[in-house]
Amino acid sequence: MNPVQALKTNPFVLAPMAGITDHAFRTFMKKLDTSVVVTELVSANGIEYKSERTMKLMSFDESQRPIGIQLFGEEPEVIARAAQVAEAEGCDFVDLNFGCPVPKVVKKGAGSAMLKDPIQLQKVLSAVKSAIKIPLTIKIRTGWDANTRNAIEVCNIAYNEGIEWVAIHGRTRAQGYSGLADWDFITEVKNQAKLPILGNGDILTPRQANLRLEQSGCDGVMIGRGCLKNPFIFMDALSMWRGEPVKNVKRDFVSLFQGLEREIVAHCDAHITGIQLRKFAAWFSTGYPGAAQFRKNLFQSKSNEEIMTLANEFFAGIGETEQEDQSQDEFLMGGHG
Ligand SMILES: Cc1cc2nc3c(=O)[nH]c(=O)nc-3n(C[C@H](O)[C@H](O)[C@H](O)COP(=O)(O)O)c2cc1C
Repeated sequence: MNPVQALKTNPFVLAPMAGITDHAFRTFMKKLDTSVVVTELVSANGIEYKSERTMKLMSFDESQRPIGIQLFGEEPEVIARAAQVAEAEGCDFVDLNFGCPVPKVVKKGAGSAMLKDPIQLQKVLSAVKSAIKIPLTIKIRTGWDANTRNAIEVCNIAYNEGIEWVAIHGRTRAQGYSGLADWDFITEVKNQAKLPILGNGDILTPRQANLRLEQSGCDGVMIGRGCLKNPFIFMDALSMWRGEPVKNVKRDFVSLFQGLEREIVAHCDAHITGIQLRKFAAWFSTGYPGAAQFRKNLFQSKSNEEIMTLANEFFAGIGETEQEDQSQDEFLMGGHG
């Protein structure tokens, strides 16, 4: 299915997050009603060298469709060849990362550095677009810094190159993850853009997801960190959007977490499984009583069995407890977009 088409029945898209939205987590979130999903960023150079680790990042299963593979790189021809490999892997669309602020990436001219060089950006779009038959989307920031917020110019280039949508994280590269995403600016971009726009940044609740969508007029919204604190955010946002009562499923974190464990075990070795289980258990515990002690215990645990015992115990204790408002807390202030 075309990714833009998918927004018409569910406009709430899981934002790509390196080290988080891997094969296992995407399958898990699909069951929790996320719309389109995108892989974490994959290096076009890594694909060129057929790095085993890189190739594994592109794996997905049928339940994840429509699925996009996100690429980053600096050379138009290399990115175009990588896009052909992604297409051959059978994904539904290719997404290009023009938002990554990480110094190692921008130093080479990739990620958000492309925003500083619209001519190069246009060359990349043109090369990739003509190399593949499946749709092409891009993810950007509002601009490089406060003086060069050129998202509107980038959207015009994208439109002229036949790009399917532009997803905009409402911060400049210079901001990193500080301050707040500028939804007024996202709204302005949406008002002027001739192609579908996905707004992104700081959505933490299902209600906020619906408000942002409605007030910005965007065609969809992307939610990243919000689903790590509240994995039910997509399910509830979708129910609200459809005007249905919030789904009457028991908020059973024990079986939820066991479901995630099954996905992780199916796709990762024991070492990575341990890392992922600790991270997700710690994030899901946010805002519940005893979370600080739980995290300490988690990070001192010696085996994956011990992690699961601790998690089962903690999540069983949540019961009907309301999650405390965590919106003012700093949370995962760094990433690749
Ligand atoms: C840990 C982490 C990793 C990220 N990795 C990627 C990535 O691989 N590609 C990308 O386009 N954006 C990446 N991002 C950016 C997110 O997609 C999103 O734009 C950003 O987190 C703001 O949205 P949020 O407030 O809903 O999290 C990452 C963010 C975080 C926190």
